[in-house]
Amino acid sequence: MDKLIIDTDPGVDDSMALQFALASKEFHILGITTVFGNVDIEQTTKNALRILHLAQRADIPVAKGASKPVYGEFLGGVPFVHGDDGQGNTWRPAGPLKPIDIGAEEFIIEQVLRYPNQVRLAALGPLTNLARALEKKPEIQDKVKEVVFMGGNAFCPGNATPAAEANMLSDPEAADRVLGANWPMTMVGLDVTHKTLLSRDTLNKISLFRSPLNDFVMEAYQFYQDFFMKANKIDGTFVHDSSVFAYLIDRSLYKTVEYPIRVETQHSISRGKTWPSLGETDHEGAKALEPWRNRPKIKICLDVEDKKVIQLLEQRLMQ
Ligand code: RIB
Ligand code: CA
Repeated sequence: MDKLIIDTDPGVDDSMALQFALASKEFHILGITTVFGNVDIEQTTKNALRILHLAQRADIPVAKGASKPVYGEFLGGVPFVHGDDGQGNTWRPAGPLKPIDIGAEEFIIEQVLRYPNQVRLAALGPLTNLARALEKKPEIQDKVKEVVFMGGNAFCPGNATPAAEANMLSDPEAADRVLGANWPMTMVGLDVTHKTLLSRDTLNKISLFRSPLNDFVMEAYQFYQDFFMKANKIDGTFVHDSSVFAYLIDRSLYKTVEYPIRVETQHSISRGKTWPSLGETDHEGAKALEPWRNRPKIKICLDVEDKKVIQLLEQRLMQ
């Protein structure tokens, strides 16, 4: 089993992704770290704790993380996408579980040093906690088995702005730092999540499976589906965060290319855009690629067998 830390900003799709990971025997979840993003840190933490309570997994620790990006303030999240509570305005009471005493970055450092070269980090929100852990203990980059994150858009438009994907836009400086670290990293971005559609029919089928956790996630999905119909005129939702676990379970479902990536941190209309180098940066004529020089290559998911991802997700959620 893969030792996994899940960094997340629940978030309706984060909640389904947590349900997916909890139902998958491939993962030994060491803990969940929470971060601001879709809603504020207090709410994302409450939401993560509630998911674990509904899943009867009080054994999994939750470490509360960053309340704002490395520079600047939390700008309020996207309640119009995920609801003011981050869970489709279901406003369920907080569960009985509480976060542990140490923060997200301390938990990441502690677990990575305890299990050198065994821990995979699955990041489903802004990369602030990972950047802060790197800042505090740079040597963890040599001890993390791999980082797989939902975020970015290499060769397609953004979703938060025409340029940028939401997680990257929430903290571009953190993203640029994390994408420059020397750990194996895979980007599961809009290039594949915008090709992976969870249709209303499939959601209706999944909702036939009754459990406290599935009932809750399906209830939260009503609001999320309405957003996608309004914003994208699609009858269903894109599969963003759950795609990270589909990749970790079966990498053959994804086609990848490898390039160094920079993230736009200028305060411009392109802020948060993930730019692959599109070429080797070490040849003489690559002066223009200076910003990408000496940066590690990132595996970028470019294509996906989306029907098989949906089948996998459906099968794991209905158990
Ligand atoms: O762009 C989609 C990403 O932003 C997902 O992780 C979603 O939960 C939001 O955080
Ligand atoms: Ca998320």
